[in-house]
Amino acid sequence: MNGDTYDIPARVREGSTSDIRSIDDWRRAYLDCQADPDGFWLDVTRDLVEWRAAPTVGLEGDYRHIKGGPFTWFGDGQLNVTETCLDQHLEERGDKTAILWEGDEPGDVRRLTYRDLHAEVCRAANALQAMGLHRGERVIIYMGMVPEAAVAMLACARLGAVHSVVFGGFSAEALRDRVRDCGAEFVITQDEGMRGGRTIPLKATTDEALEGEHGVKKVLVLKRTGGDVGWTEGRDVWWHEAVEGASPDCPAEVVAADHPLFILYTSGSTGRPKGLVHTCGGYLTYTAYTHRTVFDLREDDVYACVADVGWITGHSYIVYGPLANGATTFMFESTPTYPDAGRYWDMVQRHGFTIFYTAPTAIRALAAQGDDFVTKYDRSSLRVLGTVGEPINPDAWIWYHQVVGEGRCTIVDTWWQTETGGIAISPIAPATAPKPGSATRPMPGIEPVLMDPKTDRPIRGPGQGLLCIAQPWPGQARTVFGDHDRYVATYFSNFEGLYFTGDGCRRDSDGYYWITGRVDDVINVSGHRMGTAEFEAALLHDEAVGEAAVVGFPHDLKGQGVWAYVVLQAGERWSDDLEQRLHKVVRSVIGAHARVDVLQPVPGLPKTRSGKVMRRILRKVAEGHADQLGDTSTLADPAVVDAIVEGAKGRHG
Ligand code: WT7
Repeated sequence: MNGDTYDIPARVREGSTSDIRSIDDWRRAYLDCQADPDGFWLDVTRDLVEWRAAPTVGLEGDYRHIKGGPFTWFGDGQLNVTETCLDQHLEERGDKTAILWEGDEPGDVRRLTYRDLHAEVCRAANALQAMGLHRGERVIIYMGMVPEAAVAMLACARLGAVHSVVFGGFSAEALRDRVRDCGAEFVITQDEGMRGGRTIPLKATTDEALEGEHGVKKVLVLKRTGGDVGWTEGRDVWWHEAVEGASPDCPAEVVAADHPLFILYTSGSTGRPKGLVHTCGGYLTYTAYTHRTVFDLREDDVYACVADVGWITGHSYIVYGPLANGATTFMFESTPTYPDAGRYWDMVQRHGFTIFYTAPTAIRALAAQGDDFVTKYDRSSLRVLGTVGEPINPDAWIWYHQVVGEGRCTIVDTWWQTETGGIAISPIAPATAPKPGSATRPMPGIEPVLMDPKTDRPIRGPGQGLLCIAQPWPGQARTVFGDHDRYVATYFSNFEGLYFTGDGCRRDSDGYYWITGRVDDVINVSGHRMGTAEFEAALLHDEAVGEAAVVGFPHDLKGQGVWAYVVLQAGERWSDDLEQRLHKVVRSVIGAHARVDVLQPVPGLPKTRSGKVMRRILRKVAEGHADQLGDTSTLADPAVVDAIVEGAKGRHG
């Protein structure tokens, strides 16, 4: 299990200072970083990142002064991230495959070498520049999983522009919100996406999102399917017309280390999604370092992360980390079950993946289909198996290890968040002895603190509490776009001087960490993070709805399901039609990936006398623990609870 039983090919950059090959190496690196974080990260970044002006300073600022403005890393450094991801590889790895892509149909494959990718990024950057894109301006990327999505991201970075990728499953309304929030002047999309044999109307949704007020000047449209699309003359530009003829050379715009690289929207407990800002130097350093370290990257690896670039996993571990490291990175357009549940393992056999990274929800879904879909394919190339997105239950871990990895591969259960930029707590493949279900130990630079919610004090030694982190690290998001106060209020106001993650966590007597899940009003459905407030706001779009309260509940396959309690307006009646309408409104306000599992009509919500909804009670009922409601004596109307408990019966699936 520790990687000693097979031949070890050359590592990427032999003998790098950042190699961790044993638990002693990890301990040394961890302690070095703790003793001198600036020295540690300056060494790492000089080793892994191509700087135009190498930084001489590490961290400036801290959590205690976060109100006054973001902390910075590598303040005097200057770079363009694409020179690390592309240019530096041209000499040694020009003919190496940078992006290996498989489309929706099995066997529909494209390969872009580092030379191809460099040229394509430069062409796209030149095209965008000719269309008027400047440094610092925001570009929304609303695409499926095509190589051009990565090209678009890197083309923005080449120009010092700031991309914000919006997952292709989001609705027009969600897209519009993001376009407006970040003040985007450009949108890059495609005619249609392809997924599981179905088309996704990306251009049509973009058109709908751009009805009404916005600052978008140009929409660049990749032709993926050739399907019919609407066209706005003067605004819309075909990718092939603008990009193909452009020059394959484009000078990289040199920016300061803390220049924003991208904004990525993510859901929180309250309000609208927040646009987290990641920066060039720190983010790239951290993703490059964690990618090579955690996965034990080797030069000839075929590395496959099957996430979507619409989420942080795709940014950090499909695009930026792997390309910075000169790896072959896989992009996958389809789903794990198209055409059948053997798709991943069929691709392992055909492409020879050595590292495979997916989410527990996919592992559970595939395990439920039986082992034959796995065992009929040759998986002998696999060496490291990763998981991310939600706690992995030991059964799923063991299935992944025994059946997929033939008991031979190392499993890395990587805990991190959009906010952390990269992996924060995780085994390091060649070093850490795993325990199924535990994210194990922190990466160098990550100082976890478990806070006791009852005493507001840190827990020493084994125990369970709220997971915080004590010190900034280079990959950490710096602010919320346009709303630094919200960043401070969300992450730094719970505990003085600590970053609060929103997760609960247990530490065992070996110092291993076990994430227990969100402790706030965020639900994690199939690894997709959604705010209960967003569902509630969506349901309230329907006139028949007076009040709504949404909570998560444990779900065998999805990790968490979505349970909505709905109070109708006076005079409205519950019906199948209404139920369908409510499902539809959630889909149209948030997106196709957002679905309420249980819609329960209730006569009222349990509220305190001061009018606060007691979500604890609603959670207990949804979890099927109506017998553990605790103290309900502060409720304004205790009878409401009886009706809710009664109405919930038989809805637990
Ligand atoms: C939340 C962050 C990080 C990329 C994908 C999700 C949960 C993530 C794990 C893990 C237990 C995990 C946490 C976290 N989470 N990885 N290995 N074990 N929980 O990014 O959308 O920002 O969601 O996902 O609850 O807070 P995200």
